[in-house]
Amino acid sequence: MKITLTKPDDWHLHLRDDEAMASVVGHTAERFARAIVMPNLKPPVANTQLSAEYRQRILSALPENSGFTPLMTLYMTDRLTSEEVIRAKQSGFVHGIKLYPAGATTNSDAGVTDIRKLYPVLETMQRESMPLLVHAEVTDPEIDIFDRERVFIDRYMAMLRADFPELSIVFEHVTTRDAVDFVRESNGPNGATITVQHLMFNRNHMLAGGIRPHYYCLPILKRETHQEALIKAATSGNPRFFLGTDSAPHPQHAKECACGCAGCYTAHAAIELYAEIFEAENALDKLEGFASHHGPDFYGMPRNTEQITLQKRDWQVADSYRFGNDRVVPLKAGQTVHWQLINE
Ligand code: NCD
Ligand code: ZN
Repeated sequence: MKITLTKPDDWHLHLRDDEAMASVVGHTAERFARAIVMPNLKPPVANTQLSAEYRQRILSALPENSGFTPLMTLYMTDRLTSEEVIRAKQSGFVHGIKLYPAGATTNSDAGVTDIRKLYPVLETMQRESMPLLVHAEVTDPEIDIFDRERVFIDRYMAMLRADFPELSIVFEHVTTRDAVDFVRESNGPNGATITVQHLMFNRNHMLAGGIRPHYYCLPILKRETHQEALIKAATSGNPRFFLGTDSAPHPQHAKECACGCAGCYTAHAAIELYAEIFEAENALDKLEGFASHHGPDFYGMPRNTEQITLQKRDWQVADSYRFGNDRVVPLKAGQTVHWQLINE
């Protein structure tokens, strides 16, 4: 069996930098025409100038004739200004501004400490049609890690939605039923990305019978009822939900250690794994909308014109891939994937 789709885009991706980036960017460029590239480098990509330089480094690292277009984002810090938002918009290559609550995840120490102080900037974003991309987790140490997304909705997301009714807001990597309901039901231009790992796994896969560091990402995998809500949302055909892998490579030694860092590497087999999920739901006919149509429609960009073909054929994922001077262990390392990307 084969399926042909409009070439998909990845609306949430970590490419890293330098040699590490050069080792992984080809995986994404083979499968996706464009990707929203996250700005959480060290130091963060916090202005248009840094973003232009990062974009150039990505373009230079791409394989010949890949045709891949990186869609850049800025990292919102407490110091972001309205002038910078306007500069970003005018650049034509910055497509969103990412809000990380300070300390929420990998390289987020430069994140926002009080969103209310950024209201003038958010006003400008709304006026300039610059989407706000949100890592929606509170960082309050009092709040249980499994509740951090739900509490963020109550404390901030509902407020942002009400105060900026015309601002395009992407609820990044939704992981709970609460988030799905919020995105579906609240008024305004709402979008949400959904990762492969949150569709395939729940916290039992990560924790029962042994701890699996390569399933550890943020927001953390939740219980099965939430996983079911995500699968339903992704396969529903609702245009508010679209593909964003959050593929986030880390060196093997930084994941397999006493305090492993967050992030799953999925770029090596992303669209193939989404196809597995949609097939299991008898929803392969909904894959193209989720992977190739809803994202560009939300961001106001043209849909891709090229196509890709996937064939139902088993292949085995490598145990690890080169990652600069290190190795990265991919999701499903050494295991079988049932769909394969083929060149026709
Ligand atoms: C991401 C990373 O490693 O950069 N990690 C993750 O677990 N998703 C950061 C992020 O998107 O939260
Ligand atoms: Zn991410």
